[in-house]
Amino acid sequence: MILEGKKILVCICGGIAAYKINHLIRDFVKKGAEVQALLTPAAEDFVSKLTISTLSKKPVYSQFYSENGTWNNHVELALWADVMLVAPCTANTLAKMVHGICDNLVIASYLSTKCPVFIAPAMDLDMYQHPSTKQNLELAEDYGHFIIPAETGELASGLIGQGRMAEPETIASEIEKFFNSSFSHQLHGKTVLITAGPTYEAIDPVRFIGNHSSGKMGFSLAEEASKRGAKVILITGPSAQITSNKNIEIHRVTSAKEMFDQVFKHYDQADIAIASAAVADYAPKEVAREKIKKNDDSLTIELVKNPDILKTMGERKTKQFLAGFALETENELENAKAKLIRKNLDMIVLNSLKDEGAGFKTATNKITILTPSEINEFPLKNKSEVAKDILDFIASQILK
Ligand code: CTP
Repeated sequence: MILEGKKILVCICGGIAAYKINHLIRDFVKKGAEVQALLTPAAEDFVSKLTISTLSKKPVYSQFYSENGTWNNHVELALWADVMLVAPCTANTLAKMVHGICDNLVIASYLSTKCPVFIAPAMDLDMYQHPSTKQNLELAEDYGHFIIPAETGELASGLIGQGRMAEPETIASEIEKFFNSSFSHQLHGKTVLITAGPTYEAIDPVRFIGNHSSGKMGFSLAEEASKRGAKVILITGPSAQITSNKNIEIHRVTSAKEMFDQVFKHYDQADIAIASAAVADYAPKEVAREKIKKNDDSLTIELVKNPDILKTMGERKTKQFLAGFALETENELENAKAKLIRKNLDMIVLNSLKDEGAGFKTATNKITILTPSEINEFPLKNKSEVAKDILDFIASQILK
């Protein structure tokens, strides 16, 4: 039994879907897990502490202090857990979690936890679609949390759309999947080196040549590799992406040359290397020491070729499984295949700018994975789902 002896901190928020948590807790306990339930103050209107404490066989806490005056130590609760589940997670609690607004026991425990966090959101469809909710869910994902998306159906308001909390069976199976060692240890003992983001090539002290890469794809790959038990070294150009994942060793660089140097400091220890960075192919030959003044009608800047990091990785390959990216606008398959061979890669991930929703600045991507002998097309997905497809594919290749 996968959940036998596992400690699950179940945090319940004030949403109508809270009634389903009774079944989920009963299921966890039947499967041998230890459950500690916490309620937000609003959840007390939706569930009975007596029911939950009877099902979980433990007292249920909702305040920093119990009625008898004892302190409910949120740090201890947080450190006790093997996983934390927030379900149903309301828009309010989600926002407080990602922005650190610590005004109740659930948030204090969340901020103190070091274990994986699962979030099963539930809210009305317009709240779920609101840009602030979408952004908060993305932030939670960036923090390395597991989102169990809301399902589509009839909502408490009578409206029909996406917002219903995932069914208890779905939530349980996502958590079981995590504990299933074949997933969480899939890349255990492997080191994954990832390049991400753009590079900036200085023209003068205030200007640079760059590109629109957000770094999102590389950060999603890093989170996903970490969830599978790998040691991750992430080398990123200037990117607003962040991670709180302590298992990701992050090195921030600016130019292609700096990225090259960092990569080859770590390349020898890598078992898998994934080059998702959008490296500038050329850099100004000279960097002006002072800001270039606007004098003449035209300005010519001489550019020189940057080192090709991925090609060099291909040349220096010993044990590494090497994956590159190709962003193409024409003859996509032929160009990607040619890059695969020219750079001595084991696989290449092709994005076509012709596909709507694919590319640099978008949250989604549509990819085709090529190996020397295969072509696999994937549908349009958000970048964290794409990261799963890429790592599933790499795992299927190296664990053959
Ligand atoms: N890449 C790299 N170092 C460079 C240029 C590219 O590591 N100096 C890597 C990218 O991270 C990506 C792959 O090479 O994984 C393909 O990059 P792309 O710009 O599409 O290919 P290029 O080799 O630069 O070819 P072209 O620009 O002619 O299409």
